[in-house]
Amino acid sequence: MELLKGKEASEAIKKQLLSQTQTLKQKKLRLPHLAAILVGNNGASETYVANKVKNCEEIGLTSSLIRFDEKLSESQLLNKVQELNNDENIDGILVQLPLPKHIIEQKVINLINPAKDVDGFHPVNIGKLVQGSPTFIPATPYGIILLMQYYNIEAQGKHAVVIGRSNIVGRPVSILLSSNQTYGNATVTLCHSHTPNLKELSLQADILVAALGKPGFVTGDMVKNDAVVIDVGITRVQDATAKKGFRIRGDVNFDEVSSKASYITPVPGGVGVMTIAALLKNTMHAYLMRNNLTEDIFSE
Ligand code: GUN
Repeated sequence: MELLKGKEASEAIKKQLLSQTQTLKQKKLRLPHLAAILVGNNGASETYVANKVKNCEEIGLTSSLIRFDEKLSESQLLNKVQELNNDENIDGILVQLPLPKHIIEQKVINLINPAKDVDGFHPVNIGKLVQGSPTFIPATPYGIILLMQYYNIEAQGKHAVVIGRSNIVGRPVSILLSSNQTYGNATVTLCHSHTPNLKELSLQADILVAALGKPGFVTGDMVKNDAVVIDVGITRVQDATAKKGFRIRGDVNFDEVSSKASYITPVPGGVGVMTIAALLKNTMHAYLMRNNLTEDIFSE
């Protein structure tokens, strides 16, 4: 078994992005700017957004964290998104999900300028993803693809089983792995809470992606020998012995599955850190596109 070390792969990506922002500075160009909106005080969301902002700083991207009380009205949030759309100096807009119940998430996502939608959640960008056209790939699926590429794991000809059909992870992962792209060409089975014969299907997986948000759900008896196992779960589980009062647990029972898998992602240090690296890449991509630049600028 080999660990798919997201930390190592994400550091390599961040190093490249740092060198790119340094080049932009030398050329006296404006730096890419990510604006992140956080509504309310959801502990996990606070941590994720803080990490995103911290990582921007590390690689020299400009970032703004815009915080709102959870009582913020939907129209106030829509106004803010529109303001960021109109701000020429903002390249990427990220609205951290979930939003409070009184705000319709899709309405907010739909308003984000697709050219600044670094989360890749806007219907235009999802449409392009389905078509196989260039677009912003949502950060977690993109992070998974980048991690597989870092370890030279090919999906071509393999049977990939994805557990979980969320718009953020499961569904886009299933589209990417089945797409006619270098990182795709797998045969994909997308499973969810209404799949009756889940174990029968998961046992067929050469690549198993667990993205359902249920700690320890995937047990050793559900995994084929030498499978590649990608654990997307990052659930906070109460633990009085832990410093913060909780531990982060993945969707995979690591102890049982790691002895069978050929490759497996650890939690933490696997997919989570790759998600941030992918978001940073998307932000740089948005900046280049909006300024009619290509990556050639970094080698000129
Ligand atoms: N909540 C959980 N994952 C994500 C993500 O990738 N982007 C945003 N905006 N919110 C999330």
